Amino acid sequence: MKDTNRVMQSYGRCCASAGFFDDFYAAFLASSPAVREKFVRTDMTAQKQLLRAGILNLVLFARGMPDTKLRALGQSHSRAGLDIRPELYDLWVEALLKTIGQHDRQLEQADLQAWRLVLNKGIDVIKASY
Ligand code: HEM
Repeated sequence: MKDTNRVMQSYGRCCASAGFFDDFYAAFLASSPAVREKFVRTDMTAQKQLLRAGILNLVLFARGMPDTKLRALGQSHSRAGLDIRPELYDLWVEALLKTIGQHDRQLEQADLQAWRLVLNKGIDVIKASY
């Protein structure tokens, strides 16, 4: 199966699993004080909805959609904006993969590998604007 199809199906199962986005942010915030510091003034309920679409944009980009949305994320997360240092994306990916492992009951090793490739392709675009 194509990587992007694996990821779409896995993401569908994750979104249908109660608490997926709560558990992701719990894991991400726990990963570093540098992450927690960025979200001190954030409405996390709204943030979880934004992330739901943000992950979908990464997947759609890997499926061939233009990079417009990711370049806009790159601008908002850049040095002049939210100032998200590139190494924080590694923590983001690890927290997400860990949460996927907890919520996708049908996850195969090949799905995890597919997730990694798909996420990194889009994250490279975001980081390029830093
Ligand atoms: C805001 C997605 C990585 C911190 C946002 C928003 C989206 C988003 C859609 C709201 C719209 C915007 O501001 O542009 C993503 C995606 C990521 C990612 C898809 C991974 C590829 C990160 C990382 C951090 C981070 C690594 C590091 C801590 C923030 C902060 C906000 C934000 C602080 C603003 C929150 C607020 O409004 O208070 N992100 N993000 N993001 N993101 Fe990210």
